[in-house]
Amino acid sequence: MASRNPRLNIDFCGMSFANPLVLLSGCVGFGEEYTRIQGFSNQDCGAVCLKGTTGSARLGNQPHRIYESPGGMLNAIGLQNPGVDTVIDEILPTLDFAETRFIANVSGSTLEEYIEVTRKFDDTDIDAIEINISCPNVKEGGVAFGNDPDMSARVVQACRGVTDKPLITKLSPNQTDIAENARRCIDAGTDAFAVINTLMGMAIDVEARQPFIGNNQGGLSGPAIKPVAVLKTHQVYQVAREHNIPIIGQGGVTSAEDALEFLIAGASAVGVGTALFYDPLILPKINQGILDYLDRHGLESVAQVTGSLQLNSNLSQRGCGC
Ligand SMILES: Cc1cc2nc3c(=O)[nH]c(=O)nc-3n(C[C@H](O)[C@H](O)[C@H](O)COP(=O)(O)O)c2cc1C
Repeated sequence: MASRNPRLNIDFCGMSFANPLVLLSGCVGFGEEYTRIQGFSNQDCGAVCLKGTTGSARLGNQPHRIYESPGGMLNAIGLQNPGVDTVIDEILPTLDFAETRFIANVSGSTLEEYIEVTRKFDDTDIDAIEINISCPNVKEGGVAFGNDPDMSARVVQACRGVTDKPLITKLSPNQTDIAENARRCIDAGTDAFAVINTLMGMAIDVEARQPFIGNNQGGLSGPAIKPVAVLKTHQVYQVAREHNIPIIGQGGVTSAEDALEFLIAGASAVGVGTALFYDPLILPKINQGILDYLDRHGLESVAQVTGSLQLNSNLSQRGCGC
């Protein structure tokens, strides 16, 4: 089975991933959603990120919560989840930790909520904790923390103080200088990054002159955001590599070639989210495509691809593409 080929193994913050693919938060429920589909197996990924979890249960935003746009999808779920106690008491015991690694995704409206949820997950079998300071779909917290380097660092430092588990900080693309934010999060104690969360967007029903999404705005995911996500991954890698801090690159991956772009830009692992909605059996195909690439390029292991980007030099003009 391609997904279990040792050439695809990676070490991520001391965790052994069977392959570099990570199922992304919000796209696979609490790890059980796709297991109902014949042919799908959590064994085909290196790790599963669970849905964003808060201190108390949240019902999420009013409908519509999803809008399909060219090459992508807007969502404003609003962090619907049953609350950390239910996740720990009722969901974690159902997960098969022999299949893959499971990563909790922590969200909050206040610093105290991030601390509370992280502390509770620290006391469980969960393999790692991802802190979501980049959700664009809630009124308080989320991206409000993630777009301010000071606040980002405070959240990371506070969570670091209550867990020794691997801490992955999920960065927002909706900010001016993602590399500076990454630098601050490293100083505050993050072990890894997830790059990127969704980009803020809006779609308007011109007849009604109203946004399609009940929350008015949402987060854009899918192939439309991939070039942005690859650049952000490259920018964060410039900072993270000096500290041996690995990255889960993500945003619009639908093929092995997409995954390889992220790896070459500096990611150690690659997230798959929206693509699962139209092909739930995509993981083995991506893994096989990565193996084929290793063969074609005479490489022994997928880890050799990480950060292998060779930038063009002798540019007459740097910066924008105008
Ligand atoms: C419906 C939906 C729900 C999401 N919920 C969360 C969430 O709860 N926490 C989080 O950190 N990211 C969440 N995300 C963002 C994804 O984890 C991922 O970062 C983003 O969609 C980019 O990857 P993709 O283009 O492969 O989907 C969500 C995305 C979608 C589409």
